[in-house]
Amino acid sequence: LQPIPRLWGIPLKYLSLVTLAVQNSLLTLIMHYSRISTPPERAYSAATAVLLNELFKGLISLSVAFFRVETTNESDAYCSRTTNPPRTLTQRCRMLGKEVFAPDCWKLSIPAILYVIQNNLQYVAASNLDAATFQVSYQMKILTTAGFSVLLLRKKLSTTQWMALLCLAIGVGVVQIQSLPVGGGTHSKGPVLNEMNSTKGFLAVFAACFTSGLAGVYFEMVLKNSPCDLWVRNVQLSLFSLLPALVPILFNERSGAVPGSAQWLSHLFHGFGVWAWTTVAVQVLGGLITALVIKYADNILKGFSTSLSIVISFLASVALFDFQMSFTFLLGSGIVLVATWLYNSQPKLRRPAPFPRVES
Ligand code: C5P
Repeated sequence: LQPIPRLWGIPLKYLSLVTLAVQNSLLTLIMHYSRISTPPERAYSAATAVLLNELFKGLISLSVAFFRVETTNESDAYCSRTTNPPRTLTQRCRMLGKEVFAPDCWKLSIPAILYVIQNNLQYVAASNLDAATFQVSYQMKILTTAGFSVLLLRKKLSTTQWMALLCLAIGVGVVQIQSLPVGGGTHSKGPVLNEMNSTKGFLAVFAACFTSGLAGVYFEMVLKNSPCDLWVRNVQLSLFSLLPALVPILFNERSGAVPGSAQWLSHLFHGFGVWAWTTVAVQVLGGLITALVIKYADNILKGFSTSLSIVISFLASVALFDFQMSFTFLLGSGIVLVATWLYNSQPKLRRPAPFPRVES
């Protein structure tokens, strides 16, 4: 039996789930504030923030993978770990290179592209919806995650769990009814310098829920289907994210400057203040915790931890952004919370072992 990994005596599974809940609420609030508190002409570029997120996450994962790398006994095997540490720096670099550029590394290109799209969509949603409304609507990702878990991982859901998913969809629908302004126009409260368009925000959230479910389940399938180290998988994910993250930057470039020049860089970082950097930092942290949660728990438990963040974001939105509590919002949020609890109150998900193999 494998020992349960722990940090300061606490099982990593629970530690990562609780940290993710706190990180999720923080990200929703900070991202929303960073987008609405500046007028459009001084707003930072979401595409730059997404690129920085991937760069920092990749560098952190590379450093951890570097210290964790171990040599294998078989010369042609990759990602197969033993307790044999490399003796020299060159040996360590060579082993790491071999793991990162393993023949199956291409598998990470799929979640990488999906996550880049999702991370960009999150900025659109956070710019156009109240933090609490965004948080509740984003719970629809539990539905897409369950759907993809059934399809790709062949997980079996009980009738109660399907009922809980139906409740979740109803709850999110109720929240949206109260949030959509009559006539589908803009919606703004509190210290808002940027106009919000809730229709645009909801469309972005729906698309992000789809990519979140598919990317998360695909990453889980790749991770649990091979002995490759989590941190090496994270490096591969970040590497494959760089190109798609660069595309919107290059296509939206209006300064006419040569890419890489000082003028280009200053345009890229236009509007990057404390809140933009904080958003990137919290997102980097979230990416790393998400990876740990997927490894030590699973995607569906991840959905449970974020339900806790609904309450945190909701209370903070009332205090910080003068968010108006309405009966429909409370009713919708209540249904979402009960649905999440109902979904996770089932004894255990029956998962046929082993995971279906992703052929290289
Ligand atoms: O909303 P959701 O939980 O799907 O968001 C997951 C976030 O975690 C995304 O921003 C994604 O880029 C990040 N992630 C990561 N590394 C992983 C898995 C997810 O950075 N291995």
